[in-house]
Amino acid sequence: MMGIAPQPAATATISLRPATHDDVDAIMACERQPGYDDTVGRWSREEHLAALAEPSHRYIVALDSHNAVIGFVILQEIAPAASAVLVRRIAALSQGRGHGRALLDHALALIFDELGAAKAWLRVWPHNARGMALYTKLGMREDGLSAVQRNGAPAVMTIDAARYRDRKPRSETP
Ligand SMILES: CC(C)(COP(=O)(O)OP(=O)(O)OC[C@H]1O[C@@H](n2cnc3c(N)ncnc32)[C@H](O)[C@@H]1OP(=O)(O)O)[C@@H](O)C(=O)NCCC(=O)NCCS
Repeated sequence: MMGIAPQPAATATISLRPATHDDVDAIMACERQPGYDDTVGRWSREEHLAALAEPSHRYIVALDSHNAVIGFVILQEIAPAASAVLVRRIAALSQGRGHGRALLDHALALIFDELGAAKAWLRVWPHNARGMALYTKLGMREDGLSAVQRNGAPAVMTIDAARYRDRKPRSETP
């Protein structure tokens, strides 16, 4: 399904690879962590299996040093002529340990370097400070709509290929 091999992530002890059907239980556990229900969606096993089979989707899992799944990211809207890829869902089993950053870093590299997309985008609830901080640190920006204009819908954050390539290396990021 994917042209990328498992590779080391930014955090030395974790690695990333395309998900398989065998990862669905662990993926479901990640999105069902206590406290996650007001920031991230959840799918049933059947929904994940159907999504995994979709050629327009990519699933990536992050693994710890024992090869246990510690997070995942789902990309959607992938097509030969597609210019924008949706980061549909991202969740880390435990927060604040750099796993979300490693997953999104990998996803953006896949989107821009492998898929050659012009833009990546996602939806995030404004109360999700951790998510918004992560996306901002990786160069994503809100679409500028006010809360009134959004009318209760989540914020949209995007990054285009030029901005992705212009990002400063992590050591220079404030
Ligand atoms: C959102 C999520 C994927 C982020 O992953 P994470 O592993 O917790 O985040 P990281 O440890 O990679 O931290 C990312 C950055 O955000 C910063 N950050 C973390 N929490 C923060 C907070 N509450 N306020 C401000 N900054 C914060 C960190 O300092 C880090 O920056 P650094 O790498 O420069 O130190 C994860 O917290 C998660 O799974 N949340 C629940 C599900 C969810 O909300 N998914 C996203 C839906 S849009």
